[in-house]
Amino acid sequence: MKRGLFITVEGTDGCGKTTQIKLMEQYLRSRGHDVLLTREPGGTSIAEKIRDLVLDPANSEMEDITEMMLYAASRAQHIREKIKPSVESGRHVICDRFVDSSYVYQSFGRGIDLKIVESVNRIAVDGMMPDITFFFDLSPEYALKRRIASTGADRIEKEKMDFHMKVYEGYRVLASMYPERIRTIDSSREIDIIFEEVRGILDGLLAGIGEVFV
Ligand code: TYD
Repeated sequence: MKRGLFITVEGTDGCGKTTQIKLMEQYLRSRGHDVLLTREPGGTSIAEKIRDLVLDPANSEMEDITEMMLYAASRAQHIREKIKPSVESGRHVICDRFVDSSYVYQSFGRGIDLKIVESVNRIAVDGMMPDITFFFDLSPEYALKRRIASTGADRIEKEKMDFHMKVYEGYRVLASMYPERIRTIDSSREIDIIFEEVRGILDGLLAGIGEVFV
């Protein structure tokens, strides 16, 4: 049985990754591929319960280290229960956020030592890293300006800008550390231009595993 591709998608708030994920899914399906679209935190019933816990704004007393371990726990379940079996059965998996989110949000954003986040997540991912990671590169400042222009200023978002910028810088550092796996996509362009680049990369990957389009 031919293995499927494991594709992950990353980026900061308002980078347009949701739109590109939908286009990727449509594109692969239109060519007859079996695709599983999933997300983190979440993706299985247990992992979705962890998602509710970790993203609940009422849990403001949650320690950073607790949060980091909950994201990793959700991932441990997701990878074993859903991602790995799907990829091994020949399905292509597109996952909205994965381990890089923990590196950038929990380490670059919250300040937990990267080595700690890496070692906890090494246990979580069980040797299964993405074949490719699309980083939709759009500065949070630019994304916010775009949103303000269409919806008006948002005070809370402005207060959070410092955190989002740290996360964004984290992505750029990671992308330079792993240029083979993480593909940086300039997301300040038009949707269809961005997707053209994404599609070219997908075609290359599919050709690499022997899936040739007609
Ligand atoms: P979500 O509503 O799915 O937002 P987005 O559209 O930005 O993906 O919320 C996911 C949030 O969880 C997002 O703010 C990033 C954060 N997150 C982490 O901090 N660490 C992680 O490992 C993951 C997977 C997500």
